[in-house]
Amino acid sequence: MGTLTEAARATETWQDEVRRLAREQDAIVLAHNYMPAEIQDAADVVGDSLALARHAAATGASTIVLCGVLFMAETAKILSPDKRVLVPTADAGCSLADGVTAADVRRWRAEHPGAVVVAYVNTTAAVKAEVDLCCTSANAVDVVRSVPEDRPVLFLPDQFLGAHVRRETGRDNLHVWLGECHVHAGISPDDVRRQVRAHPDAELLVHPECGCATSALWLADEGVLPRERTQVLSTGGMVEAARRTTADTVLVATEIGMLHQLRKARPGTTFLPMNERASCRYMKMTTPDLLLRCLREGRDEVDVPPDLAARARAAVEAMLAIGEPGGGE
Ligand code: 13P
Ligand code: SF4
Repeated sequence: MGTLTEAARATETWQDEVRRLAREQDAIVLAHNYMPAEIQDAADVVGDSLALARHAAATGASTIVLCGVLFMAETAKILSPDKRVLVPTADAGCSLADGVTAADVRRWRAEHPGAVVVAYVNTTAAVKAEVDLCCTSANAVDVVRSVPEDRPVLFLPDQFLGAHVRRETGRDNLHVWLGECHVHAGISPDDVRRQVRAHPDAELLVHPECGCATSALWLADEGVLPRERTQVLSTGGMVEAARRTTADTVLVATEIGMLHQLRKARPGTTFLPMNERASCRYMKMTTPDLLLRCLREGRDEVDVPPDLAARARAAVEAMLAIGEPGGGE
């Protein structure tokens, strides 16, 4: 442990300690864009779920600390079975991932012989082991486009992302599971109307999991919202859009942790939440104390049974092979 002198350790901040412990343990700290701001600032990499999966697959570090929710850490373990994958708390679940089980997928597939099953990464490892392809919000359209036109697609579990993919691909043989993320579903068309009325010159960045995504695009097509200033993007895509924007104000429809990276990407622009209550309690479970405990005590280690991981890996690797990220870190 320690080449650090007593005096140096006394002035060390908790974020310095995270970086030191990570170095000492050959660990990389990955954080999702929805993490609390101070956790994002302590991490080596901050990104969307696709960027985190790519980093987990490519890292040379022997330990991956995943500050996010459990399905993200499971994805890292699936991609890197020989590495140690740690999470600050194994209690950080996901209401969307909880909405579909492996048995549900088997039943749905049996009802549609010949269909290709595409699962959003916001699913458990057991569900990933039952599907043909995974996707994230950054590449869902490209992943579905990779499926031959004449093959039906079963898309799960998010109905709003599914509707976005159907709209973008124009496929009428895309069947969508009726799941939702309680945080994104809670951002309503009324929130959009209220915020656009209050900020008529603002740009709009909308995550495709949002309940308001369809209506925002419909309002844009009707001329109520500025079409050229309304974009549906993954969280990584939002950071890229923030770097490019010339708008004074941008309204952001997604989990509010996102605002930290957007404000860092473009300090001169005002980024406002479409709904300030859109906070994911699972994402906010990670605290500085739990991150330090994770690095000091190796808790909690994520385990995915090897046979399950091998079946899930095929679907995740097939996704990674399709195109480059639409939104990176
Ligand atoms: P992305 O990072 O893929 O945009 O996903 C958002 C999300 O809800 C993760 O929980
Ligand atoms: Fe799951 Fe929604 Fe939270 Fe993302 S924001 S982790 S989809 S509950």
